[in-house]
Amino acid sequence: MSAGMNLPDTVRQFRDLYPASGEPVVWRAPGRVNLIGEHTDYNLGLVLPMAIDLACYVTAAPSKDGRLRAYSQQFQEVVEWRLEDLAAIAPRGHWSDRVAGVVWVLLRQGIPINATDLLIDSEVPLGGGLSSSAALGVALTLALSENRPGIDVAGLARAAEVDTVGLPCGIMDQFISVKGQPGAAIFLDCRSLQWHPVPLPRNCAMVVVNSMVKHELANSAYRTRVAECAEAAKSLGVASLRYAELSQIDGLDPVLRRRARHVITENNRVQEFVDAAMAGDVGGMGRLVTQSHESLRDDHEVSCAELDFLVETALNVEGVVGSRMIGGGFGGSTLALLHPGRVEALQAAVRTRYREFSGMSPEVQVSRASAGASRVYP
Ligand code: GLA
Repeated sequence: MSAGMNLPDTVRQFRDLYPASGEPVVWRAPGRVNLIGEHTDYNLGLVLPMAIDLACYVTAAPSKDGRLRAYSQQFQEVVEWRLEDLAAIAPRGHWSDRVAGVVWVLLRQGIPINATDLLIDSEVPLGGGLSSSAALGVALTLALSENRPGIDVAGLARAAEVDTVGLPCGIMDQFISVKGQPGAAIFLDCRSLQWHPVPLPRNCAMVVVNSMVKHELANSAYRTRVAECAEAAKSLGVASLRYAELSQIDGLDPVLRRRARHVITENNRVQEFVDAAMAGDVGGMGRLVTQSHESLRDDHEVSCAELDFLVETALNVEGVVGSRMIGGGFGGSTLALLHPGRVEALQAAVRTRYREFSGMSPEVQVSRASAGASRVYP
C-alpha cells in the first residue's frame, strides 16, 4: 500500500480494459487522518483533519454503447448498467452500490449521467479508518459530474454515502478529501462550514497504525452515538451539542452526560490544538491528542481493546508526545505524534508488541498532509 499511483500504468490498464472507449481522464481523491475533533462533525462542531498521500483514483472516458460500466481493481470485477435503468437501481450490499449512490444523487440534482467507462483503484486501505469510502465517493462524484462548475462535491459525495450505506455521517471526511492542502491540516467549523488551513510544524512526525480490525458493531454504535448526542441536545433545549456548555450538563442522564462532555471538551481541544500548532508547541499538541483519546474511550465509549493497546504502546515509546484512535472507532487506525527521529523506534515497538497482543501485523505508516481532490490526467 504505497502512496503515488503510477498514472501511465493506470491509463494503460484502462485502455486494455476498454479498448473501444474515448480518451480517459483520471481523478484523484485522498483519504484522511483527523488530527483532533472526533465525533464532533455531526454535532456541528470543530474538526482538524488533513488529507493524506494515499488516494482513490477513478479513470473515466465516454463509452460508445449507452452504458455505465465500472471496474474495481480491488474487487477485480466489472458491473454495468443501461443508462435508462440507473434511476431505479437498488443497493444490494455490493461495492458497486457506491457508484449507484453517486449516480442517484447527481440525477436528483438534475445532473445527467452520460454513458461512461470507469476504472476504480485505491491506495486507501478499506476499513482502515482512513476514509476510503469518502475518497471513493469524492473521486466518483468528480468523474461522473465531470466536475461541473458550482457543484458542492463534498456535500454530494456525503449525500451519496448517507443514501447508500444509511450511515448518518458528518461532512468531515468528504470535505477534507476535497479541500486538503500539502503541509497543512484544515480547521473546519461544521456549523458555518468556514475553514482555514493550519500549517503543521515540521518537527512533528505523524504515524498511523492500522489495527487491522473493524468490529461488527462499528456502524450500529455510530448510529447510536448520533442519536444519543441528538437526545442530549434535546434535553438541554439546544439545536445541537455545539450550542451546549459544560456548566449545563450536570442534570443529564449519566450516559448522555458523558456523550455531551466528550463533544464539548473535544471542541475546546480542537481550538487549543490549533493554537499549539501555530505556536510550534509539539508537546502541547501531543497532550491534547492523548486527552482526546481518553475522552473517546471513557466518555464517548467508541474505542476498543486493540486501539487502546496501540495507543498505550505508542505512548510508552520515548519521543512520542501523544496518541489516539482516529475516525469512527471500534477498529480502524490510531495516530501518534512524535519527534521525527523516533519513527523507526515506534514502528519496531508497535509491530512487535501488537503481534504479541493480537497475533496480527499492523500496518504502520508515516502520514503527510497532502493536496485535496483534483484531475491528475491528462
Ligand atoms: C466517521 C464519519 C465522520 C466522523 C467520524 C468521527 O469517519 O464518517 O463524519 O463523524 O467518523 O469523527
